[in-house]
Amino acid sequence: MSCKIIQIMRIGFISDIHGSFTALEAVLADIKKEGVDQLICLGDTVSLGPQPCEVLDALREWNAVTIMGNHDQAILDPERAEAFEITSHLIPDLEWGVKRLPASDMAFIRSFKNTHTVRFENGIELLAFHGSPKATTDLIVATTPQDNLDDLFRGQSASVFIGGHSHIQMHRRNGKNLILNSGSVGNAFLYPFTPGNPPRLLPWAEYAILEQDGNFLRSDMRRVYFDIDKLLGLVKESGLPGTDWWFRQYAETP
Ligand SMILES: [Fe+2]
Repeated sequence: MSCKIIQIMRIGFISDIHGSFTALEAVLADIKKEGVDQLICLGDTVSLGPQPCEVLDALREWNAVTIMGNHDQAILDPERAEAFEITSHLIPDLEWGVKRLPASDMAFIRSFKNTHTVRFENGIELLAFHGSPKATTDLIVATTPQDNLDDLFRGQSASVFIGGHSHIQMHRRNGKNLILNSGSVGNAFLYPFTPGNPPRLLPWAEYAILEQDGNFLRSDMRRVYFDIDKLLGLVKESGLPGTDWWFRQYAETP
């Protein structure tokens, strides 16, 4: 029996799609053009947006390795949504999504991984996660204090780390290591979310491509415009409890 070894050289990372297939479709078209060997989704796939089923269908179609986000955990266990740090005003939207997902989609979400390790041919080890290697709800941004980073990454053997959750692209050196964030496909934020300070959405979708380049990894943080009017039309038709929020966000987009 022959065994085909696929060498992973170029990986697309998508995260925080949040039920916006309109944004994901634009990103996937760009990824197709760029060409990748593998697609990795860093979590928060379906809650809040109008197209949860379409998002999951696309992840299956692309055979994406998918990591569990805090919103995915809350979709599976909505009674404990606040334990997964879902703000109370978002819970009706979360429940709207739960009602639309058939058992097969719930089983797919249950199969998402906690973390995923990639070893590139040049020996570089990468660890992918949602919030941090320790928890889906850990928020890592450019200003996260060094002591917190030391706690979150202690004992890890990888030298390159990539997550989502903040909805903000990041390329941060941490000693000899690198911490990346691919941003958000469905809800790219202008500034980090803090309680009492509602996020503002940016008018594009974000993702990243990492590619082996000799002894190094090259990272390409990408942004793709998508059809916001089409998305808002779908939001309106959907009857999502947060419909007004979506319209307000894009009316105020900088
Ligand atoms: Fe998210």
